[in-house]
Amino acid sequence: MSDNNQPQASGIDTAAIRAAAQNLSDGPVTAGYKGDREAVLKMLNDALATELVCINRYKRHYYTVSGKNNAAVKAEFLEHAGEEEKHADWLAERIVQLNGTPDYNPATLHERSHAEYDDSLEVQSMVRADLIAERVAIEAYRQMIERIGDTDPVTTQLLIKIMAEEEEHADDMRDLLE
Ligand SMILES: [Fe+2]
Ligand SMILES: [Fe+2]
Repeated sequence: MSDNNQPQASGIDTAAIRAAAQNLSDGPVTAGYKGDREAVLKMLNDALATELVCINRYKRHYYTVSGKNNAAVKAEFLEHAGEEEKHADWLAERIVQLNGTPDYNPATLHERSHAEYDDSLEVQSMVRADLIAERVAIEAYRQMIERIGDTDPVTTQLLIKIMAEEEEHADDMRDLLE
């Protein structure tokens, strides 16, 4: 390693790495962070709202679906509710890492969510509403991933991981659609 403070031939900026020893209250966010932090936080909070609405919709479907022929669908609803909760937790954790605050305010949840709540009573209507919500979530995550790109690789990687599960959810719901 050179003592030279100029960017190295490798492209590594030693001075910027040393500067990371300052501003400790910024936690994981260093001066070199390339994302538009406010925009990223807004996207993550909208995604959090979406996940919270999706938890509620799947829980509602899980508890209200009935009939001995619907045991498999019921189990699927519960599994998805659990995975949406995991997504919400990942997003809240990332928001805090980026020095933001996760917004759980129920009063504005639905208007901030990309996906809709649904209180259908008939099982195929539930599956259809869930498939629509998953497709909406997939498209929202796709746009966020494109927008953030390599300006914040950890956030992008997280969004890709969540989006992959939303694609599985959409596929599961399509399989249950008659
Ligand atoms: Fe999700
Ligand atoms: Fe999902």
